[in-house]
Amino acid sequence: MAKALAAWPSWEEATPTSRDLFERASRVLPGGVLSPVRGVSAFHPYPIYMEHGEGPYLFDVDGNRYVDLVLGLGPIILGHNDPAVVAAVQDQVQQGSLFATCTPLEIEVAERICEMAPGIEMVRFTNSGTESTMHAMRLARGFTERPYVLKFEGHFHGNHDQVLLNINPPFRSEGEEVMPFPVGRGIPPEHYATMLLAPWNDVGEVSRIIERHGHHLAAVILEPIMANKGFIPPEPGYLEALRDLTARHGILLILDEVVTGFRLRPGGAQELYSVQADLVTYAKAMANGATIGAFGGRAEIMGLLGTMEVRHAGTYNGGLVPLAAARATLDQLAADGAAAYAKLDALGERLRDGLRHVISRAGVNAIVQGEGSMMQLYFTPRQRIRNYQDLQDLDGTTYRRFANEMIGRGVLIHPDPYEHWFLSTAHTSDDIDHVLAAAEESMAVVAARS
Ligand SMILES: Cc1ncc(COP(=O)(O)O)c(C=O)c1O
Repeated sequence: MAKALAAWPSWEEATPTSRDLFERASRVLPGGVLSPVRGVSAFHPYPIYMEHGEGPYLFDVDGNRYVDLVLGLGPIILGHNDPAVVAAVQDQVQQGSLFATCTPLEIEVAERICEMAPGIEMVRFTNSGTESTMHAMRLARGFTERPYVLKFEGHFHGNHDQVLLNINPPFRSEGEEVMPFPVGRGIPPEHYATMLLAPWNDVGEVSRIIERHGHHLAAVILEPIMANKGFIPPEPGYLEALRDLTARHGILLILDEVVTGFRLRPGGAQELYSVQADLVTYAKAMANGATIGAFGGRAEIMGLLGTMEVRHAGTYNGGLVPLAAARATLDQLAADGAAAYAKLDALGERLRDGLRHVISRAGVNAIVQGEGSMMQLYFTPRQRIRNYQDLQDLDGTTYRRFANEMIGRGVLIHPDPYEHWFLSTAHTSDDIDHVLAAAEESMAVVAARS
């Protein structure tokens, strides 16, 4: 019998300093936060303020320690404050942070990415995933000289106007088409008039749209794994079908690997699923938390940026500190024949197996979907979640309760049921034991209440 964990008495009693900080923050920061997923829609009754990270752990301002499975929403693949990344950043800060000139470092990191990722012949650096997808879409339109881009229902590609579409749309009734549903106010319909929409994991439907509009379509953009709804993998053969359809119609396939890039394999989802895109976008796991993104692809396409037929520019592109962090991160991920991924896969497998046992012992309606160091637990009566529509009977309230119980037992998972759990190379078997013990107790609490 595992030893009972020391669960905190209540959110308010355990985190009084966070409560005070949130009150202060709410006076000067809209919603008290810098990005909505950090706010009270997820963290109730107020967000917990973190003070520092160390390996797989975060410590909050009241001194509580958490095994961190949020990991900065994905970037922290080596754990917090990885010594080699810290040393590289410190060294670079001393040499200079930004010259806005050419530097040898940018060539080294570009070469490293081209070595690691299949089919990437050239890259450009950006400052975020949002910028990466925005530029990849512009480049695809410039290369093909076609206006439309197709995206999938529920997929997220960042915060530029054209892709803030059908992220969490109302659920459709049987047979109803996917209609445009922008996120929030302030996005004129003209901004997404050249976007087409399709449901995910439905070859028939996407074929129908491509057969009809293919000659106007510059690109199909997708998350190879729909990670912005937890973890929804492509059905067997689905990515191959998309590759084939797009190639036949002269449409570029853009894989948005902002989450999966460098996380699942050195070559990301392209390598995992043996599919090669025309353009690929990166950000999160490439620099262990430093602010940088990239997009890359075939030289024939990327070359249009060099001739300036398609515009990509920016003062902070290839900032030296983020580039130094990227070099130190990618070097470690590529070292010893990419041994890091075997560790991440083994930890992930153990956690998923353990969670499935927890679920079956508690007798609750829940499943776990994942791969390598990414996963999500869904409270659902379904055996599998295949697309956005399958989320309509998801029990988000129970997930939030479960997440709060986990947090109270020193495990930070994001309470939004559409987020996911990540692992880093800094997590150990003991950390997995702690997470599973917390899951066992948390599941018992929510099972008793439902
Ligand atoms: C698949 C995907 N693409 C793009 C983005 C946007 O990245 P950023 O937040 O760095 O702008 C995200 C962010 O979560 C993402 O998950």
